[in-house]
Amino acid sequence: MAGQQFLITGAGGQLGRALRAACGARGLAAVGVGTTSMPLHDRAAIRATLERERPAWVLHCGAVTNVDGCETDPLGAYRINGLGTAWLAEAAAAVGAGLVYMSTDFVFDGSATTPYAVDAPVRPLSVYGASKRLGEEAVLGHGRADFHVVRTSWVFGPGGKNFPRAILDRARSGQPLKVVTDQIGCPTYAPDLADALLDLVASRAPGGIWHAANDGQCSWHGFASAVLQAAGLGAIALGTQTAAELKRPAPRPAWSVLDTGKLAAVRGRPLPPHTDAIRRWLVADAATAQAGGGKNY
Ligand SMILES: NC(=O)c1ccc[n+]([C@@H]2O[C@H](COP(=O)([O-])OP(=O)(O)OC[C@H]3O[C@@H](n4cnc5c(N)ncnc54)[C@H](OP(=O)(O)O)[C@@H]3O)[C@@H](O)[C@H]2O)c1
Repeated sequence: MAGQQFLITGAGGQLGRALRAACGARGLAAVGVGTTSMPLHDRAAIRATLERERPAWVLHCGAVTNVDGCETDPLGAYRINGLGTAWLAEAAAAVGAGLVYMSTDFVFDGSATTPYAVDAPVRPLSVYGASKRLGEEAVLGHGRADFHVVRTSWVFGPGGKNFPRAILDRARSGQPLKVVTDQIGCPTYAPDLADALLDLVASRAPGGIWHAANDGQCSWHGFASAVLQAAGLGAIALGTQTAAELKRPAPRPAWSVLDTGKLAAVRGRPLPPHTDAIRRWLVADAATAQAGGGKNY
């Protein structure tokens, strides 16, 4: 399988699946890897995979993404998200592959009141955010023109577990719903994000930091409300709560709205509004459920 155009890590995850589909739709060759086929804690396996596949680009979506779980296993988070990314960057540089590393709004502390620019100071509040920041530093430290860090936020895609799926499941089961009102961010639809990432690669824009999210901002409560409305469940009572009341182990930024202007300028357009993306998600998620979903890489 030499000469693959794209190597996608975390290929079975929300974004990895969307990237595989987006590559397929554009006729781009891609190979996906995951925990079994290329464990990110294994430097030799990473190097061997890149030497075998010789991709033109690595799209690095693989990560420990359980934000609360990272608080109880910080070593695991730093090992995979930090060191694993460093090893991947080192291997990509060695084979001359470009790299797109997916990072997160959780590198910010949420104290801002306007959208975060790509060069805004970072101060992660959680182990997850700090481990992803370590990965960013490892990638940017190479100073390569074809190494990118792309921060995104509040990702949801067809199939699998995510926020809108959880809201719909709970609403349909008749359980009471209470959602956080005091965290504001940008929901991001995985297929829209995948398209934007492939556009970024095609643009040959110089390496650096990018912010990518669907257009528009809301609270988690606003996100849930938009999901219920789009699903025709707008009459269901949606209670409110604060982040403090939810008592989650990992602190989250209260404000993590990303300024996506740099990427929009390169693409000639922003990502679509998240309200539009939610409607498309409903259709795609139902189709994925009917098809059985699951990993097939
Ligand atoms: N989800 C969000 O809201 C969000 C927000 C901001 C940024 N991001 C970033 O965007 C990227 C993609 O997120 P996502 O939502 O698609 O994540 P996801 O659905 O949780 O998928 C993550 C993938 O990482 C792989 N992985 C985990 N541990 C690994 C290991 N030790 N070795 C190799 N692969 C491993 C898993 O592969 P297997 O399935 O094979 O185990 C999994 O498919 C991540 O880098 C994440 O940090 C996500």
